[in-house]
Amino acid sequence: MTENLFILSHPLLQHKVTHLRKKETGSKDFRELVEEVSSLMAYEITKSLPLKEVKIETPITMSKSFILSGKDIVIVPLMRAGLGMVNGILKMVPTAKVGHVGLYRDPLTLEAVEYYSKLPDEIENREVYIVDPMLATGGTSIAAIDMLKKNNAKKISFICLIASPEGLTNLHEKHSDVPIYTAAVDPGLNDKSYITPGFGDAGDRLFGTK
Ligand code: URA
Repeated sequence: MTENLFILSHPLLQHKVTHLRKKETGSKDFRELVEEVSSLMAYEITKSLPLKEVKIETPITMSKSFILSGKDIVIVPLMRAGLGMVNGILKMVPTAKVGHVGLYRDPLTLEAVEYYSKLPDEIENREVYIVDPMLATGGTSIAAIDMLKKNNAKKISFICLIASPEGLTNLHEKHSDVPIYTAAVDPGLNDKSYITPGFGDAGDRLFGTK
């Protein structure tokens, strides 16, 4: 699928993703790199946000200039690894709101079960950026988009650092209206559904839990 898929291949992104992949990159550097990559991606993704003209006064004269015209965007990190991307995006868009969604996979039914959600108001009028460093099988992302659409979100984008072809196909099949932004597409998943070569368990590497 190439429709609604945006692979952001800026040299700085590729360089930083290479360092993320290295197994010797420790938690501190991993966290900083995830934040930097998220900032760079946000800069590219926000390039089509609508603007409005305003009158301002500079120290020299009155002037016309532009500011963002829409409602504040909403960043929705999928817990837990998505949390690592939030500050990087907030650095670029400090007025963004942050909603939270927690889902786990029921070991028996394999269905995604929501255990937490807190979203800002007027979600239907806002750009929603769902963020998760890894798009592996797509199961959690699909469930999160289902849930946000039930809450009336209309303009949803999904942002990850690395995607698998399986995850892209599954997500696109269920939600073809949702643009997917990624810094890399890897060859596939291993038998534990980890992206290969990927960068391992993003949550563990971010938070030092292994
Ligand atoms: N989640 C991760 O953290 N890593 C993967 O490779 C897949 C899912």
